[in-house]
Amino acid sequence: MAFAIKVNGSTHSVDVDGDTPLLWILRDVLGMTGTKFGCGMALCGACTVHLDGAPTRSCITSIDSIGQSEITTIEAIGKTAAGARIQKAWLEHEVPQCGYCQSGQIMSAAALLASKPRPTDADIDDAMSGNICRCGTYVRIREAIKQAASG
Ligand code: FES
Ligand code: FES
Repeated sequence: MAFAIKVNGSTHSVDVDGDTPLLWILRDVLGMTGTKFGCGMALCGACTVHLDGAPTRSCITSIDSIGQSEITTIEAIGKTAAGARIQKAWLEHEVPQCGYCQSGQIMSAAALLASKPRPTDADIDDAMSGNICRCGTYVRIREAIKQAASG
């Protein structure tokens, strides 16, 4: 079945089953491999994208549930004000280690900053608790979010 989805400002027509996860479409159909597959069960956050600005686990989001929502991925988050601040802070704090979880981390952090420009520690914990990092970069993630919020 054909679906038209809006990704990073462009409309794409894709011919897939309605229950196909958005993550599969981004990576395998559209070739946008910045969004990562981790668990496939909404447990790790590696696949986080934005749907109308809200952080969303693309591994469990079927294409037939998306409708006209605007999808933003890591490939375009730097074009948003919050995303650009987060990416700058990430670089300055050298947050990534292996890097695998980091696109999801950045997407969650950018959504937090867009909705709460001055997040409290509790806000940060709440927003980032679903993003797992096996390398344990949590301290640098928190520092970078605080810097981005104060910039
Ligand atoms: S791959 Fe989607 S939450 Fe882990
Ligand atoms: S940087 Fe390696 S899993 Fe997070």
